[in-house]
Amino acid sequence: MPVNLKGRSFLTLKDFTQKEIFYLLDLARDLKSKARAGIKGDTLKDKNIVLIFDKSSTRTRCAFEMAAAQEGANVTFLTNSQMGKKESIEDTAEVLGRYYNGIEYRGFGQKIVNELAKFSGVPVWNGLTDEYHPTQILADLLTIQEKIFKPLSHIKVVFVGDARNNMGNSWMIGCAKMGMHFVALAPKSLWPDPKLVKEMKEIAACTGGKIELYSNVDLAVKNADVIYTDVWVSMGEEAKYAERIKLLKPYQVNMKMLKKAKNPHVKFMHCLPAFHDLNTEVAKEIHKKFGLKEMEVTDEVFRSHHSIVFDEAENRLHTIKAVMVATIGNI
Ligand code: CP
Ligand code: NVA
Repeated sequence: MPVNLKGRSFLTLKDFTQKEIFYLLDLARDLKSKARAGIKGDTLKDKNIVLIFDKSSTRTRCAFEMAAAQEGANVTFLTNSQMGKKESIEDTAEVLGRYYNGIEYRGFGQKIVNELAKFSGVPVWNGLTDEYHPTQILADLLTIQEKIFKPLSHIKVVFVGDARNNMGNSWMIGCAKMGMHFVALAPKSLWPDPKLVKEMKEIAACTGGKIELYSNVDLAVKNADVIYTDVWVSMGEEAKYAERIKLLKPYQVNMKMLKKAKNPHVKFMHCLPAFHDLNTEVAKEIHKKFGLKEMEVTDEVFRSHHSIVFDEAENRLHTIKAVMVATIGNI
């Protein structure tokens, strides 16, 4: 049966089969070639989309806007709306569903995107919630396909740091679905929710994937193809710097950790933004308060030949475009 994602929301990768995820990756690759050849598309011609951002963003917002522009859609950027303050999610969804063909939401609880999808009657795309960041995983998978010459099912990804955040959760789901080997490397208190781990282990048992949790660096990173990290403190958790620095300092991604993979071709990945130097306001504050010059990754690793972070960032555009084209496009 051919894959048809028309009318579907993209809330978490849990809702998608391996075949559907491969379909989105193939579509993203085609759209990337088209964009690189300078061909203006019309797969989203006359479509209207709204982008709701209740948290900061550079990549996700720009990727949605550029993808829409390149394929002919009109965009409304919405921040500081009435939603959740003077108007319920349900009522807002009803209204937006009457104006738009698709809704992107970045913000807090997963419950919010779920409700938008339930009540708007149009596809809703998760641009990051506290729990999940599924469009990021699509970009990461495409980047791995481009940079590592092995099938996804032969790839070992080690997610280091706050393994129960939106990225840790989403990577575990992505690996389970794609039959990959996923390792969460974190202190036990930051391991993912046991319920989600159990659910993903059951999926992995069917796809040939493997899910492991470690707090020992040496055991975790051996033979890694990808060492992935994210910020130690996610958006909305800013009060937690002291606690997280204490917990995660031994888990900083540095050259010593990369060498422990015993794989000269090991790749370093990060969804970005990353704290790898002192060139940001927050990094300067942290340096003043805690004396750290780098946090989750050293500048040396970030700028090394192992690092494919900007290829990843570029692929946000092509994979987000694929999600919109597949769910509301004229194809
Ligand atoms: N990776 C990512 O989601 O980046 P932004 O926060 O800049 O959108
Ligand atoms: N875990 C991070 C991801 C940013 C793209 C956050 O939620 O802030």
